[in-house]
Amino acid sequence: MGQTLVIEGGRRLEGTVRVGGAKNAVLPCMAAALLTGEDCYLENVPRIADVEFMIQVLESLGGRVEWSGAHCLRLNAANITALSPPADLVTSQRASFLVMGSLLGRFGYAACPPPGGDVIGQRPIDVHLAGFAALGATIGREAEKYVAKAQGLRGATIFLDYPSVLGTENLLLATSLSQGRSLLVNAACEPEVVCLAEMLQAMGARISGVGTHTIEVEGAASLHGVAHNIIPDRIEAGTFAIAAAITGGDVEIEGARPDHLMAFTAKLQEVGVRIEPGRAIPLRGSPGPSGLGSKGNMCLRVRGGDALRAVSIQAVPYPGLATDLQAPMAALLTQAHGTSYINERVFENRLLYVGELRKMGAEVVTTGTTAIIQGPTPLIGSQVRALDVRAGAAVVLAALVARGTTRVGEIHHLDRGYEALDQKLCSLGAVIQRIEE
Ligand code: UD1
Repeated sequence: MGQTLVIEGGRRLEGTVRVGGAKNAVLPCMAAALLTGEDCYLENVPRIADVEFMIQVLESLGGRVEWSGAHCLRLNAANITALSPPADLVTSQRASFLVMGSLLGRFGYAACPPPGGDVIGQRPIDVHLAGFAALGATIGREAEKYVAKAQGLRGATIFLDYPSVLGTENLLLATSLSQGRSLLVNAACEPEVVCLAEMLQAMGARISGVGTHTIEVEGAASLHGVAHNIIPDRIEAGTFAIAAAITGGDVEIEGARPDHLMAFTAKLQEVGVRIEPGRAIPLRGSPGPSGLGSKGNMCLRVRGGDALRAVSIQAVPYPGLATDLQAPMAALLTQAHGTSYINERVFENRLLYVGELRKMGAEVVTTGTTAIIQGPTPLIGSQVRALDVRAGAAVVLAALVARGTTRVGEIHHLDRGYEALDQKLCSLGAVIQRIEE
């Protein structure tokens, strides 16, 4: 039995919605709590299935995790009893593989099967493993698990073949407790990597170059506990922005950090969507290198334009347009005049949602890693599936503007990354019911 969203299309969205903490930031920060025996507190934690998964992973190792507030976690890794999480947990969530870096750094041993996660491409882990090896670890394979062993990691210069987000995070975790200085060259610079690095700095690690492609880490002998705020989720913010745009609505998004969304808002404006700063509100969250957040303006007002225009999009690493917003953008572009092109350049298999949009009447074809969308097309309520978390967001967005009723199945994928997406959209005037099927 699973849950289905039943969505009545055609409602204009209006009002104010608040974005939660970033899924892709909280998961590495939870793994960072394994680096110390002292208490770590994480604030602005989203209540999503992926966080519950990560709690199970940490508990399987002997970590203690409890909700100390509605969106606050207390984590303690003083009594770690296992250095290898159960395979079923790691294979159902890719970020679980981050415990490798922490365990290897602190205990000199970690064993993990190859991680799972969304089916969006091959998703290798060579960057992670090559980095561990460069730090002096021996990497082997025992049954289904990768095993990494080291008698104390030594700092090294590591060239990442690709600026992998989780790869960079795993190496930040491992090097924070290594001996000497490490240089991560071609590192990822996503805001979620910055959020993790700031937590590690607050725990006592010396890290510079954060937010650039070259990060220097001076390993510490030990790290201490911390209270750390998780940055707002830029992908959730982008999803609400598209919900406003696609329904011709007028929505203020609290927690949308303009500095994290520059490529996205520039593209929305090119489409003809009107974007301006919302009411300046103080919002808890890391201000980041630009300090924008600390000035309090973490709110965007998004209004649908009269006639949306077709655009070309490339999904690339940060600060380019996020691959996680490419499927939601496709839903919007079905309503734009002309031919839009979406080139997915991060993952090789991230256009599967196109089949679901086609069921709703969208004129979309794919060739290789490019989707070609002809618009505008009237969408029709249909029976569709959330194929992964962002593909699910795309069909929900399409359903908001479709004529009639859309039923979105397999929404456990959506719940992995969005806290109460349906309720938040309803608070803006959408008509959505969650039913058991
Ligand atoms: C993270 C995000 C995901 C986002 C993605 C890209 C989390 C939990 N997930 O995934 O939402 O879509 O970043 O922004 O934070 N690659 C290699 N070798 C490796 C690792 C990756 O070649 O060792 C390649 C992948 O095949 C892919 C590309 O790098 O083509 C991007 O992957 P990566 O940045 O690692 O994505 P994730 O960290 O898995």
